[in-house]
Amino acid sequence: MSQPLLFSGKLYQSHINGAPTYLAMNPCVIYFSRTGNTKRLAEAIANQIKVPIFSISSSEPSIVDAYSTIILGTPVEGANPAKETLAFIERLPETEGKKTILFCTYRLFGNARTLKNMQKKLADKGYETILKVSKKGMKPEQPADFSEVLVEIKKVI
Ligand SMILES: Cc1cc2nc3c(=O)[nH]c(=O)nc-3n(C[C@H](O)[C@H](O)[C@H](O)COP(=O)(O)O)c2cc1C
Repeated sequence: MSQPLLFSGKLYQSHINGAPTYLAMNPCVIYFSRTGNTKRLAEAIANQIKVPIFSISSSEPSIVDAYSTIILGTPVEGANPAKETLAFIERLPETEGKKTILFCTYRLFGNARTLKNMQKKLADKGYETILKVSKKGMKPEQPADFSEVLVEIKKVI
């Protein structure tokens, strides 16, 4: 006897051959980090929602093929995403229907500009950003409170 298919996660709307279709949300976290702050936040997100995590430094952009939702993180450098993050986005495959959640860590300023810049470059490739969140003032190896970011992400995942 066949079992009923049970699914307890969120669904998202995509299009298959032009027809609206509901698919299971299948997220992963991808991050770049120069001094460890963004890595720690990325790990906290991946632990919280129990999804795979990849570093831009050791992953090919084609990794996104396996996921519906990309939770993409970067440090702010010169009020912009790190150049490594930008290069990764540049090499991402074009898509129809994949979602992005963008996050950054920063010291003082430039977070909104950074996330907007990423959103625009991703939109040019077909990725729809559903959330942008940032974490200010982390110091390497010092405790940080990620709860606000985690609550925001939990709302959409
Ligand atoms: C080269 C460089 C440029 C930076 N530029 C900015 C900036 O424009 N605005 C800001 O608030 N923080 C800036 N920062 C601080 C980082 O954004 C912040 O420390 C971040 O959390 C580092 O993340 P990471 O440890 O993952 O590399 C800069 C740091 C570096 C190394």
